[in-house]
This record gives sequence, C-alpha cells and structure tokens, in this order.
Amino acid sequence: MRIYSASQVYRVHVELTTRCNAACPMCPRTRAGGEQNPNLPLTELTLADFQAMFPPAQLQRLKQFLFCGNYGDALVARDTVPICEYLRRENPKLRIKLVTNGSGRDAAFWAALAKLVTTVTFSIDGLYEVNQIYRRRTSWDRIMSSVQAFLAAGGRAEWDYLVFRHNEHQVTEAAALAAQLGFAKFNLKRSQRFLVEGQAVERFPVLKVGGGVAYYLELPSQPDYQNSGFVSLSSLHKRGQSYRDYLHATRISCKAVRDEQVYLSGSGHLFPCCWLGQIYDSWPSVMAAEIRARIAELPDGLAALDLRQHSLAEIIDGPFFQQLVVRGWNPSEPQGRLSACGRMCGEIDTHSRQWESGSGPPSP
Ligand SMILES: C[S@@+](CC[C@H](N)C(=O)[O-])C[C@H]1O[C@@H](n2cnc3c(N)ncnc32)[C@H](O)[C@@H]1O
Ligand code: SF4
Ligand code: SF4
Repeated sequence: MRIYSASQVYRVHVELTTRCNAACPMCPRTRAGGEQNPNLPLTELTLADFQAMFPPAQLQRLKQFLFCGNYGDALVARDTVPICEYLRRENPKLRIKLVTNGSGRDAAFWAALAKLVTTVTFSIDGLYEVNQIYRRRTSWDRIMSSVQAFLAAGGRAEWDYLVFRHNEHQVTEAAALAAQLGFAKFNLKRSQRFLVEGQAVERFPVLKVGGGVAYYLELPSQPDYQNSGFVSLSSLHKRGQSYRDYLHATRISCKAVRDEQVYLSGSGHLFPCCWLGQIYDSWPSVMAAEIRARIAELPDGLAALDLRQHSLAEIIDGPFFQQLVVRGWNPSEPQGRLSACGRMCGEIDTHSRQWESGSGPPSP
C-alpha cells in the first residue's frame, strides 16, 4: 500500500490556532471540559507563516483549504481574515471552508468572511442554553449575532448538530430554525467519542476546573441518533476479537489518500491527517504515544515535519509520510502499526457513519 507523493496533494486541512474560547468536554484541548490540556502548546499560524508556507505558485495548484483542526477555533486566531484574503487573492478558484463554534468576533469579521469563504460550518449542539451543555463557555446570543452577520452579508452556512441525550428533543426545532435563518444545510452528527480506548462509556463525565464531576454527557436514546460504527466497535468481543486486535489487524483505507489532503497543525507541523496530528494528549493515550514514538525515529524528531523549516514536498516525500506512516498500516508488522489508522480508517468506519442515519445491522 502506498501513500501519495506531494504532487498528488490538492487539499490542506489547517488548524489556525490551538486556542479556543470554548471547552467542549470531548475535545482534547481540555481534560473533559475542565482544566486545560497540560501538554498542549498554545500557538497559532500568522499571515507571514502562510505566505512563506504557501507561496503564490504553490497556491495555483491547490484546490481547497479547510480551517478546522484538533484543538482550537479559527475565530480566535488573529490573522483569519487576512489569511483568507491572501488565499482568495492568489487563487480565486480555491474552495475555502471554515468550521467554528461561532461564539465570538464582531459583525465586521463575519461579514468579511462571508465575502471570502465558500462555506462556514457552525457547530451548534442545541438551542439557547442547551448548546452550552456541550459547547461550554459559549453564548447563544453571540452565536446568533455571528450567524446573522455572516448570512446577511451573503455567506453560505451549514449547521452541524452533535446529538446527545440532552439535546435530542430539539433536533426538529433546530432544523426548522436553520431553514428559517437561511442555512444551506443542517447536518445531524452522531459522535463516535463515547468509545474511550475501545470501551463504550454510556455516561461521559464532564469535569470541573478544580476537579470533580460537574455532570454527565449521555448517548442519545434514539438508536437512529447513535453512531452505528460505534455500536459495532463496542461489540467486537461478541465475535471473539479484542479492540486492540481489531486495530492491529483491520485493513486500512487511508482517507488522506482518498481525499488528496494533508493536515497542518497550529504549531506548523505537517501530518497526513488531523488524527495523526493528535499528539498532545489530555490523558495518557496509546494512539498518541505510538505517533510520538514514530516521530522520535526521525533524526530531527518533530522538527522534520515543521513547515516553517521545510517545504511541503520535502515533508510529504520524506521518511515520516513515505515509510513510518505506511508501516503503520502493515498487519504483518504489529510493532509498527498505528492504532489511530486502524481506528479512523479501518473496516468499521465510525468517522463516515457520523453523518449516516440508521444504526443498521452491525458491520462485518
Ligand atoms: C476541534 S474542532 C475544531 C473546529 C471548531 N472549534 C469546532 O468545534 O467546530 C473539530 C471538529 O470536532 C468536532 N467535535 C467536537 N466534539 C465532538 C464530539 N464529541 N464528537 C464528534 N465531533 C466533535 C467539532 O464540532 C468540529 O467539527
Ligand atoms: S469549539 Fe472546537 S476547538 Fe473549541 S473546545 Fe469545542 S471542539 Fe474544541
Ligand atoms: S489515520 Fe492513518 S490511514 Fe487514516 S487518514 Fe490518517 S494516515 Fe491515513
């Protein structure tokens, strides 16, 4: 199995910053919504970084930038609008997408974005104060001001709604509000994050900053709102396979290759995808430790993936992508396997099934 070469990459997923105004409990930027992840460097990419990393000639051949990321929110980054202006100016045909909690910045920011980006996806998981149960520290009024400023300026918006027990009763009302406000799409999203190291957790504890449980998140009660891949993964034992065995044996179909996409982290490091970019674990994690161990095999360590020091082609065509990641897919070499690849791109595809309706029969 092969990974792409640099000339086959057309899309870039970027984390503009590792900072965020919110504290969503299942996001690794905090420890379950409480204290900040102690391993996370707080850092961001500037316009000057972008101009150096993606010179105009490079932008001519790229097709898409997606501003999303693992640990932060583009609305907090200082240079979000200047960076989008630069991209738009240098390649008017680029698709530019941005995913955000929407709770911040002024109307001028959202109106400027509306003129520059193809789509903004607002992550809003409930109506009024219900949204704050997952989107901790956000404000419904600020989100609605952002949405209205963006739509009034002619922007195209989608609404992503993560469904939980506490917000499943509002799905119909939220979909109606999305249509009334002028969202182009309303996407119900079935989280796969109730699976922690292979164990299905029915109740996910949300922690207070000082420690102690504040409350619990629960799976939605309607089976149609549950992730069918999650259901299959959490019942592997019924067919006599452990979660670890599955991760090491499953056939990998790399989504980065399928999507012709790379991931640039807020610290300026290049990975094939956001899942391999998740190296700053909030709690000790086997997946993150394996990726860090692969990086440690490089003579220069993490610096070898730094897009401030190397070109896109040097990194993609170098040993991390071409050897260490590909080795992570080989079922006959268990020591080199990457659990993150088995988890995200194995035969049970919990990621894609987030958007699929119906729990359906368990996967093979
Ligand atoms: C780290 S966020 C970065 C973008 C932005 N800060 C946001 O939250 O929309 C990346 C993606 O993870 C999603 N996400 C957060 N918590 C999730 C969960 N429990 N299950 C599935 N996706 C989740 C976000 O909605 C977003 O689409
Ligand atoms: S808004 Fe996005 S980056 Fe911020 S805490 Fe929530 S999921 Fe994480
Ligand atoms: S997790 Fe592994 S297999 Fe999946 S997209 Fe990333 S590099 Fe490819």
